[in-house]
Amino acid sequence: MKFFVDTADVNEIKELAATGLLDGVTTNPSLIAKSGRDFKEAIAEICEIVPGPVSAEVAATETAGMLSEARELAKIAKNVTIKVPLTFDGLRACKELTGDGLMVNVTLCFNANQALLAAKAGATFVSPFIGRLDDAGQDGMLLIREIRQIFDNYQDLTTDILAASIRTVNHVREAALIGADVATIPPGILRALIKHPLTDKGLDAFLADWAKTGQKIV
Ligand code: E4P
Repeated sequence: MKFFVDTADVNEIKELAATGLLDGVTTNPSLIAKSGRDFKEAIAEICEIVPGPVSAEVAATETAGMLSEARELAKIAKNVTIKVPLTFDGLRACKELTGDGLMVNVTLCFNANQALLAAKAGATFVSPFIGRLDDAGQDGMLLIREIRQIFDNYQDLTTDILAASIRTVNHVREAALIGADVATIPPGILRALIKHPLTDKGLDAFLADWAKTGQKIV
């Protein structure tokens, strides 16, 4: 499973990239607004830090506008992944952009039929939003399971499932158990994945016992 971080905060991205565990980055207009950064400058900086796919979302709502924004964003770096919304205009743009060899992430997916359409439009990634479905009283993880089953039914559907809107460490575990190809994870949750009190307790005990030996390894 690949790990993307879901943020436009360059400092967070630098710190997490240094762990060697980061495969990509997703941003969206809300995350860009939160960062207070110039969009294209932030994307350029992120693309230098992380060599994997970096999602940058178009703001236009019609295919022609999406295409011209996408071409502009694609000039920033080779690893820019164009993010388009799950609308017919977005899917038309997706088909054309992936046909030209660009990576496309179709975002705001809330049901399995939408994911099927994104895959048929040749999307590189489709992003089902788990947390927002849970917030609405639905089952976000059920959607991941359904999309996995559908994509596994048809060998010609090669779109990666990018589990998005992740709110808890359990979302990551469950998405991995189901077989989502990628999880895009907020920085705080990504850091929390490593935590277990018995790891901390065990390490403290080992270090205390090691100190008693009076030895050094180097
Ligand atoms: C994915 O690409 C989106 O940026 C993101 O996961 C949305 O998450 P949210 O529902 O927490 O805003």
